[in-house]
Amino acid sequence: MWFDMDCKSVKFKLFACENICYLPFGARAPSLRLHTSLHLAPLPLASLSGGKAVFLAAGAALLLLLVARRRKARAARRGVLQVLRDAEQSTPYVDGSPIYRKLVKRQAYASESLRLAMEQPDEFESLFMRLSQKDVAKGCIDPELVGVLRDTAVVSVRRRGRGESAEWCEMRLPAFMAHLANPMALLDPEVAEDATPLWSDGSWTGTLIWDSAVHATEFLLSNEAWRASLEGESVLELGCGLGLPGIVCALLGAAPVVLTDRGAVAALAEEGCRANPQLAAVRGVTLEWEEAAVKDLVTKHFNGQPPGVIIACDCIFAPMFGDSFLLLEVLSALAGPKTRIIVGLERRPKDGAEAFFTLAERAGFRTTLLLRVDRVVVVEMQLESC
Ligand SMILES: C[S@@+](CC[C@H](N)C(=O)[O-])C[C@H]1O[C@@H](n2cnc3c(N)ncnc32)[C@H](O)[C@@H]1O
Repeated sequence: MWFDMDCKSVKFKLFACENICYLPFGARAPSLRLHTSLHLAPLPLASLSGGKAVFLAAGAALLLLLVARRRKARAARRGVLQVLRDAEQSTPYVDGSPIYRKLVKRQAYASESLRLAMEQPDEFESLFMRLSQKDVAKGCIDPELVGVLRDTAVVSVRRRGRGESAEWCEMRLPAFMAHLANPMALLDPEVAEDATPLWSDGSWTGTLIWDSAVHATEFLLSNEAWRASLEGESVLELGCGLGLPGIVCALLGAAPVVLTDRGAVAALAEEGCRANPQLAAVRGVTLEWEEAAVKDLVTKHFNGQPPGVIIACDCIFAPMFGDSFLLLEVLSALAGPKTRIIVGLERRPKDGAEAFFTLAERAGFRTTLLLRVDRVVVVEMQLESC
Protein backbone atom coordinates (compact mmCIF):
# COMPACT_ATOMS: atom_id res chain seq x y z
CA MET A 1 0.00 0.00 0.00
CA TRP A 2 1.33 3.48 -0.82
CA PHE A 3 0.30 6.94 0.15
CA ASP A 4 1.33 9.79 -2.02
CA MET A 5 0.26 13.28 -1.04
CA ASP A 6 0.90 16.38 -3.04
CA CYS A 7 -0.43 19.62 -1.57
CA LYS A 8 0.68 21.64 -4.55
CA SER A 9 -1.47 19.90 -7.09
CA VAL A 10 -4.32 19.83 -4.55
CA LYS A 11 -4.93 16.16 -5.26
CA PHE A 12 -4.69 13.19 -3.03
CA LYS A 13 -4.05 9.66 -4.21
CA LEU A 14 -4.73 6.64 -2.11
CA PHE A 15 -3.41 3.29 -3.26
CA ALA A 16 -4.83 0.39 -1.29
CA CYS A 17 -5.14 -3.27 -2.24
CA GLU A 18 -4.99 -2.52 -5.94
CA ASN A 19 -7.90 -0.05 -5.54
CA ILE A 20 -7.20 3.50 -6.57
CA CYS A 21 -9.28 6.39 -5.27
CA TYR A 22 -8.81 10.09 -5.82
CA LEU A 23 -9.87 12.29 -2.96
CA PRO A 24 -9.87 15.95 -3.94
CA PHE A 25 -9.56 18.33 -1.02
CA GLY A 26 -9.18 22.02 -0.30
CA ALA A 27 -10.28 23.61 -3.57
CA ARG A 28 -8.16 26.67 -2.86
CA ALA A 29 -4.62 26.65 -4.15
CA PRO A 30 -2.14 27.82 -1.50
CA SER A 31 -1.14 31.37 -2.25
CA LEU A 32 2.23 31.08 -0.56
CA ARG A 33 4.27 28.63 -2.55
CA LEU A 34 4.99 25.52 -0.65
CA HIS A 35 5.24 21.89 -1.45
CA THR A 36 4.74 19.05 0.95
CA SER A 37 5.20 15.48 -0.05
CA LEU A 38 5.11 12.50 2.25
CA HIS A 39 6.13 8.99 1.29
CA LEU A 40 5.41 6.02 3.51
CA ALA A 41 7.05 2.66 3.30
CA PRO A 42 4.79 -0.18 2.08
CA LEU A 43 2.73 -1.67 4.92
CA PRO A 44 2.17 -5.42 5.15
CA LEU A 45 -1.53 -5.68 4.50
CA ALA A 46 -1.59 -9.22 3.22
CA SER A 47 -3.26 -10.49 6.39
CA LEU A 48 -6.14 -7.99 6.21
CA SER A 49 -9.32 -8.37 4.22
CA GLY A 50 -9.84 -5.86 1.39
CA GLY A 51 -12.57 -3.93 3.30
CA LYS A 52 -10.52 -3.61 6.48
CA ALA A 53 -7.45 -2.54 4.56
CA VAL A 54 -9.36 0.23 2.81
CA PHE A 55 -10.80 1.35 6.15
CA LEU A 56 -7.35 1.41 7.75
CA ALA A 57 -5.88 3.17 4.76
CA ALA A 58 -8.59 5.83 4.83
CA GLY A 59 -7.94 6.48 8.53
CA ALA A 60 -4.21 6.77 7.98
CA ALA A 61 -4.82 9.00 4.98
CA LEU A 62 -6.97 11.30 7.06
CA LEU A 63 -4.25 11.52 9.69
CA LEU A 64 -1.68 12.37 7.04
CA LEU A 65 -4.00 14.96 5.62
CA LEU A 66 -4.32 16.66 9.00
CA VAL A 67 -0.57 16.62 9.56
CA ALA A 68 0.05 18.07 6.11
CA ARG A 69 -2.53 20.83 6.63
CA ARG A 70 -1.01 21.76 9.96
CA ARG A 71 2.44 21.88 8.36
CA LYS A 72 1.10 23.97 5.51
CA ALA A 73 -0.53 26.44 7.95
CA ARG A 74 2.70 26.73 9.93
CA ALA A 75 4.73 27.33 6.77
CA ALA A 76 2.24 29.97 5.62
CA ARG A 77 2.44 31.76 8.97
CA ARG A 78 6.24 31.68 8.85
CA GLY A 79 5.90 33.13 5.36
CA VAL A 80 3.67 35.98 6.55
CA LEU A 81 6.01 36.75 9.47
CA GLN A 82 8.98 36.91 7.10
CA VAL A 83 7.06 39.23 4.80
CA LEU A 84 6.24 41.46 7.77
CA ARG A 85 9.93 41.65 8.65
CA ASP A 86 10.89 42.37 5.04
CA ALA A 87 8.25 45.12 4.93
CA GLU A 88 9.64 46.75 8.05
CA GLN A 89 13.10 46.90 6.51
CA SER A 90 12.05 47.79 2.99
CA THR A 91 12.06 51.59 3.24
CA PRO A 92 13.12 54.08 5.93
CA TYR A 93 10.28 54.73 8.35
CA VAL A 94 10.31 58.46 7.58
CA ASP A 95 9.41 57.62 3.98
CA GLY A 96 6.32 55.67 5.12
CA SER A 97 2.70 56.43 4.16
CA PRO A 98 3.57 57.94 0.75
CA ILE A 99 -0.07 57.99 -0.38
CA TYR A 100 -1.32 59.59 2.83
CA ARG A 101 1.41 62.23 2.63
CA LYS A 102 0.57 62.97 -0.98
CA LEU A 103 -3.08 63.48 -0.09
CA VAL A 104 -2.47 65.81 2.84
CA LYS A 105 -0.28 67.89 0.58
CA ARG A 106 -3.25 68.01 -1.77
CA GLN A 107 -1.61 66.01 -4.49
CA ALA A 108 -3.81 63.40 -6.15
CA TYR A 109 -3.32 59.64 -6.09
CA ALA A 110 -4.26 57.91 -9.34
CA SER A 111 -4.11 54.35 -10.62
CA GLU A 112 -5.93 52.40 -13.34
CA SER A 113 -8.91 51.80 -11.04
CA LEU A 114 -8.79 54.40 -8.30
CA ARG A 115 -8.36 58.15 -8.00
CA LEU A 116 -8.16 60.02 -4.70
CA ALA A 117 -7.84 63.71 -3.97
CA MET A 118 -8.46 65.96 -0.99
CA GLU A 119 -10.28 69.25 -1.27
CA GLN A 120 -10.42 71.88 1.43
CA PRO A 121 -12.32 75.09 1.98
CA ASP A 122 -10.37 78.15 0.83
CA GLU A 123 -10.30 79.59 4.36
CA PHE A 124 -8.23 76.73 5.65
CA GLU A 125 -4.51 76.46 6.15
CA SER A 126 -3.17 73.55 4.11
CA LEU A 127 -3.84 70.11 5.56
CA PHE A 128 -0.16 69.45 5.73
CA MET A 129 0.46 72.58 7.80
CA ARG A 130 -2.47 71.84 10.07
CA LEU A 131 -1.24 68.34 10.74
CA SER A 132 2.43 69.10 11.08
CA GLN A 133 2.21 72.27 13.17
CA LYS A 134 -0.53 71.28 15.58
CA ASP A 135 -0.56 74.93 16.55
CA VAL A 136 -3.80 76.83 17.09
CA ALA A 137 -2.24 80.09 16.03
CA LYS A 138 -0.80 78.71 12.81
CA GLY A 139 -3.20 75.93 11.94
CA CYS A 140 -6.75 76.62 10.93
CA ILE A 141 -8.32 75.16 13.99
CA ASP A 142 -11.65 76.56 14.93
CA PRO A 143 -14.24 74.36 16.64
CA GLU A 144 -16.92 76.79 15.45
CA LEU A 145 -16.31 75.48 11.96
CA VAL A 146 -17.11 71.89 12.84
CA GLY A 147 -20.11 70.76 10.85
CA VAL A 148 -19.97 73.84 8.65
CA LEU A 149 -16.71 73.70 6.79
CA ARG A 150 -15.22 70.36 5.95
CA ASP A 151 -12.44 68.89 3.94
CA THR A 152 -13.65 66.53 1.25
CA ALA A 153 -12.11 63.33 -0.03
CA VAL A 154 -12.95 62.98 -3.71
CA VAL A 155 -12.92 59.27 -4.51
CA SER A 156 -13.33 57.88 -8.04
CA VAL A 157 -13.59 54.16 -8.61
CA ARG A 158 -13.45 52.47 -12.00
CA ARG A 159 -16.06 49.77 -12.17
CA ARG A 160 -15.78 47.23 -14.93
CA GLY A 161 -18.95 46.65 -16.89
CA ARG A 162 -19.63 43.84 -19.34
CA GLY A 163 -16.79 43.06 -21.74
CA GLU A 164 -14.20 45.79 -21.86
CA SER A 165 -16.55 48.61 -20.89
CA ALA A 166 -15.81 50.50 -17.70
CA GLU A 167 -17.27 53.48 -15.92
CA TRP A 168 -15.85 55.84 -13.32
CA CYS A 169 -17.98 56.40 -10.28
CA GLU A 170 -17.20 59.58 -8.32
CA MET A 171 -18.08 60.09 -4.67
CA ARG A 172 -17.44 63.01 -2.35
CA LEU A 173 -16.80 61.95 1.22
CA PRO A 174 -16.75 64.51 4.03
CA ALA A 175 -13.48 64.39 5.94
CA PHE A 176 -12.44 66.16 9.12
CA MET A 177 -8.85 67.08 9.16
CA ALA A 178 -6.87 68.66 11.93
CA HIS A 179 -9.22 71.59 12.19
CA LEU A 180 -11.60 69.45 14.22
CA ALA A 181 -9.31 69.19 17.16
CA ASN A 182 -7.93 71.60 19.64
CA PRO A 183 -4.25 70.67 19.80
CA MET A 184 -3.84 72.57 23.07
CA ALA A 185 -5.71 69.66 24.64
CA LEU A 186 -2.86 67.42 23.63
CA LEU A 187 -0.55 69.45 25.82
CA ASP A 188 -3.02 70.17 28.58
CA PRO A 189 -5.58 67.44 29.33
CA GLU A 190 -7.56 69.93 31.45
CA VAL A 191 -8.58 71.82 28.32
CA ALA A 192 -12.23 71.00 27.81
CA GLU A 193 -13.14 70.79 24.17
CA ASP A 194 -15.84 68.87 22.35
CA ALA A 195 -13.55 67.62 19.65
CA THR A 196 -10.74 66.59 21.97
CA PRO A 197 -11.58 62.86 21.95
CA LEU A 198 -10.77 62.76 18.26
CA TRP A 199 -7.18 63.30 19.22
CA SER A 200 -6.90 61.66 22.59
CA ASP A 201 -8.00 58.14 21.58
CA GLY A 202 -6.32 58.07 18.20
CA SER A 203 -9.56 58.25 16.26
CA TRP A 204 -8.41 61.44 14.51
CA THR A 205 -6.46 58.99 12.34
CA GLY A 206 -9.80 57.83 10.95
CA THR A 207 -10.46 61.20 9.36
CA LEU A 208 -7.83 60.56 6.69
CA ILE A 209 -7.10 57.78 4.18
CA TRP A 210 -4.09 55.60 4.94
CA ASP A 211 -1.92 53.61 2.57
CA SER A 212 -2.96 50.10 3.59
CA ALA A 213 -6.63 50.96 2.94
CA VAL A 214 -5.68 52.15 -0.54
CA HIS A 215 -3.68 49.01 -1.31
CA ALA A 216 -6.38 46.69 0.06
CA THR A 217 -8.89 48.54 -2.14
CA GLU A 218 -6.64 48.19 -5.18
CA PHE A 219 -6.42 44.48 -4.43
CA LEU A 220 -10.21 44.13 -4.32
CA LEU A 221 -10.58 46.03 -7.57
CA SER A 222 -7.93 44.08 -9.44
CA ASN A 223 -8.34 40.52 -8.17
CA GLU A 224 -10.85 38.78 -10.44
CA ALA A 225 -11.77 36.01 -7.97
CA TRP A 226 -12.28 38.36 -5.05
CA ARG A 227 -14.23 40.83 -7.15
CA ALA A 228 -16.63 38.15 -8.37
CA SER A 229 -17.03 36.71 -4.88
CA LEU A 230 -18.19 40.03 -3.43
CA GLU A 231 -21.51 40.03 -5.28
CA GLY A 232 -24.20 39.65 -2.59
CA GLU A 233 -21.60 39.13 0.16
CA SER A 234 -22.08 40.77 3.57
CA VAL A 235 -19.21 43.06 4.56
CA LEU A 236 -18.24 44.63 7.87
CA GLU A 237 -15.41 47.14 8.06
CA LEU A 238 -13.75 47.75 11.44
CA GLY A 239 -11.90 50.98 12.27
CA CYS A 240 -13.19 52.14 8.89
CA GLY A 241 -12.12 55.80 8.90
CA LEU A 242 -13.56 57.10 5.65
CA GLY A 243 -14.42 53.49 4.73
CA LEU A 244 -12.75 53.27 1.33
CA PRO A 245 -12.44 49.45 1.01
CA GLY A 246 -15.94 48.85 2.42
CA ILE A 247 -17.40 51.41 0.02
CA VAL A 248 -15.68 49.73 -2.91
CA CYS A 249 -17.11 46.36 -1.80
CA ALA A 250 -20.58 47.94 -1.98
CA LEU A 251 -19.87 49.27 -5.48
CA LEU A 252 -18.83 45.74 -6.46
CA GLY A 253 -22.22 44.37 -5.36
CA ALA A 254 -21.69 43.44 -1.70
CA ALA A 255 -24.69 43.80 0.64
CA PRO A 256 -25.21 44.58 3.41
CA VAL A 257 -22.11 46.72 3.90
CA VAL A 258 -21.60 48.22 7.36
CA LEU A 259 -18.75 50.64 8.07
CA THR A 260 -17.86 50.89 11.76
CA ASP A 261 -15.61 53.02 13.92
CA ARG A 262 -15.67 55.08 17.10
CA GLY A 263 -18.52 57.60 17.41
CA ALA A 264 -17.19 60.72 15.68
CA VAL A 265 -15.57 58.78 12.85
CA ALA A 266 -18.57 56.48 12.31
CA ALA A 267 -20.77 59.60 12.07
CA LEU A 268 -18.45 60.92 9.39
CA ALA A 269 -18.64 57.64 7.45
CA GLU A 270 -22.44 57.64 7.75
CA GLU A 271 -22.56 61.21 6.48
CA GLY A 272 -20.44 60.19 3.50
CA CYS A 273 -22.86 57.39 2.67
CA ARG A 274 -25.88 59.71 2.90
CA ALA A 275 -24.19 62.28 0.66
CA ASN A 276 -23.67 59.86 -2.25
CA PRO A 277 -26.64 58.10 -3.90
CA GLN A 278 -24.44 55.13 -4.93
CA LEU A 279 -23.99 54.39 -1.22
CA ALA A 280 -27.68 54.53 -0.28
CA ALA A 281 -27.58 50.97 1.11
CA VAL A 282 -24.31 51.40 3.06
CA ARG A 283 -24.41 52.29 6.76
CA GLY A 284 -21.86 54.00 9.00
CA VAL A 285 -22.33 52.69 12.54
CA THR A 286 -20.57 53.26 15.86
CA LEU A 287 -18.69 50.21 17.11
CA GLU A 288 -16.23 50.18 19.98
CA TRP A 289 -14.13 47.02 19.95
CA GLU A 290 -15.74 45.10 22.76
CA GLU A 291 -17.64 41.84 22.73
CA ALA A 292 -21.12 42.94 23.78
CA ALA A 293 -21.17 45.75 21.20
CA VAL A 294 -20.00 43.34 18.50
CA LYS A 295 -22.78 40.84 19.25
CA ASP A 296 -25.33 43.61 19.22
CA LEU A 297 -24.10 44.85 15.84
CA VAL A 298 -24.23 41.36 14.28
CA THR A 299 -27.80 40.89 15.51
CA LYS A 300 -28.92 44.27 14.21
CA HIS A 301 -27.14 44.40 10.86
CA PHE A 302 -26.29 40.81 9.89
CA ASN A 303 -29.34 38.83 11.11
CA GLY A 304 -27.17 37.26 13.77
CA GLN A 305 -24.93 35.61 11.13
CA PRO A 306 -21.15 36.10 10.88
CA PRO A 307 -20.32 38.59 8.10
CA GLY A 308 -18.95 37.05 4.90
CA VAL A 309 -16.06 39.51 4.75
CA ILE A 310 -14.48 41.60 7.49
CA ILE A 311 -12.01 44.36 6.65
CA ALA A 312 -9.64 46.09 9.09
CA CYS A 313 -7.06 48.44 7.61
CA ASP A 314 -4.37 50.20 9.60
CA CYS A 315 -5.89 49.04 12.87
CA ILE A 316 -2.82 47.20 14.19
CA PHE A 317 -0.68 49.87 15.72
CA ALA A 318 0.02 49.07 19.34
CA PRO A 319 1.54 52.34 20.52
CA MET A 320 -1.40 54.42 19.42
CA PHE A 321 -4.38 52.15 19.99
CA GLY A 322 -3.01 50.46 23.10
CA ASP A 323 -3.41 46.73 22.94
CA SER A 324 -3.86 45.71 19.28
CA PHE A 325 -5.05 42.33 20.48
CA LEU A 326 -8.38 43.87 21.25
CA LEU A 327 -8.80 43.73 17.48
CA LEU A 328 -8.01 40.02 17.49
CA GLU A 329 -10.60 39.41 20.20
CA VAL A 330 -13.17 41.25 18.13
CA LEU A 331 -12.28 39.27 15.01
CA SER A 332 -12.56 36.01 16.96
CA ALA A 333 -15.99 37.04 18.24
CA LEU A 334 -17.16 38.04 14.75
CA ALA A 335 -15.78 35.41 12.41
CA GLY A 336 -17.56 32.24 11.35
CA PRO A 337 -15.93 29.35 9.46
CA LYS A 338 -16.70 30.97 6.10
CA THR A 339 -15.70 34.52 7.03
CA ARG A 340 -12.79 35.95 5.06
CA ILE A 341 -10.92 38.69 6.89
CA ILE A 342 -8.74 41.25 5.15
CA VAL A 343 -6.19 42.86 7.46
CA GLY A 344 -4.16 45.70 5.94
CA LEU A 345 -1.31 47.31 7.84
CA GLU A 346 1.67 49.52 7.40
CA ARG A 347 4.77 48.50 9.35
CA ARG A 348 5.75 50.99 12.02
CA PRO A 349 8.31 50.55 14.79
CA LYS A 350 7.04 48.28 17.58
CA ASP A 351 3.57 48.13 16.04
CA GLY A 352 2.92 44.63 17.42
CA ALA A 353 2.08 43.18 13.97
CA GLU A 354 4.21 40.04 14.28
CA ALA A 355 2.79 39.24 17.72
CA PHE A 356 -0.70 39.86 16.35
CA PHE A 357 -0.35 37.24 13.59
CA THR A 358 1.37 34.74 15.90
CA LEU A 359 -1.53 35.03 18.34
CA ALA A 360 -4.01 34.92 15.45
CA GLU A 361 -2.68 31.51 14.45
CA ARG A 362 -2.97 30.29 18.05
CA ALA A 363 -6.55 31.53 18.05
CA GLY A 364 -7.21 29.24 15.07
CA PHE A 365 -6.79 31.61 12.10
CA ARG A 366 -4.99 30.61 8.93
CA THR A 367 -3.12 33.55 7.40
CA THR A 368 -2.39 34.07 3.72
CA LEU A 369 -0.45 36.92 2.19
CA LEU A 370 -2.48 38.89 -0.36
CA LEU A 371 0.07 41.57 -1.20
CA ARG A 372 2.98 43.64 -0.02
CA VAL A 373 3.97 47.09 -1.26
CA ASP A 374 7.00 48.47 0.58
CA ARG A 375 5.87 48.85 4.23
CA VAL A 376 2.29 47.87 3.52
CA VAL A 377 1.19 44.26 3.97
CA VAL A 378 -2.31 42.94 3.28
CA VAL A 379 -3.15 39.53 4.72
CA GLU A 380 -6.22 37.30 4.52
CA MET A 381 -7.25 35.49 7.68
CA GLN A 382 -9.72 32.66 7.91
CA LEU A 383 -10.61 30.24 10.70
CA GLU A 384 -9.08 26.80 10.23
CA SER A 385 -11.93 24.48 9.32
CA CYS A 386 -10.69 21.60 11.46
C1 LIG B 1 -5.33 54.55 11.32
S1 LIG B 1 -7.06 54.63 11.35
C2 LIG B 1 -7.46 53.71 9.93
C3 LIG B 1 -8.63 54.28 9.19
C4 LIG B 1 -8.93 53.56 7.89
N1 LIG B 1 -9.20 52.16 8.10
C5 LIG B 1 -7.78 53.71 6.92
O1 LIG B 1 -6.94 52.80 6.84
O2 LIG B 1 -7.72 54.75 6.24
C6 LIG B 1 -7.49 53.50 12.66
C7 LIG B 1 -8.97 53.53 13.00
O3 LIG B 1 -9.23 52.54 13.99
C8 LIG B 1 -10.18 53.07 14.90
N2 LIG B 1 -10.06 52.40 16.21
C9 LIG B 1 -8.94 52.26 16.94
N3 LIG B 1 -9.21 51.64 18.10
C10 LIG B 1 -10.55 51.38 18.09
C11 LIG B 1 -11.44 50.76 19.03
N4 LIG B 1 -11.00 50.28 20.19
N5 LIG B 1 -12.75 50.67 18.68
C12 LIG B 1 -13.19 51.14 17.50
N6 LIG B 1 -12.39 51.75 16.57
C13 LIG B 1 -11.09 51.86 16.88
C14 LIG B 1 -9.81 54.54 15.01
O4 LIG B 1 -10.90 55.34 15.46
C15 LIG B 1 -9.39 54.87 13.58
O5 LIG B 1 -10.45 55.39 12.83
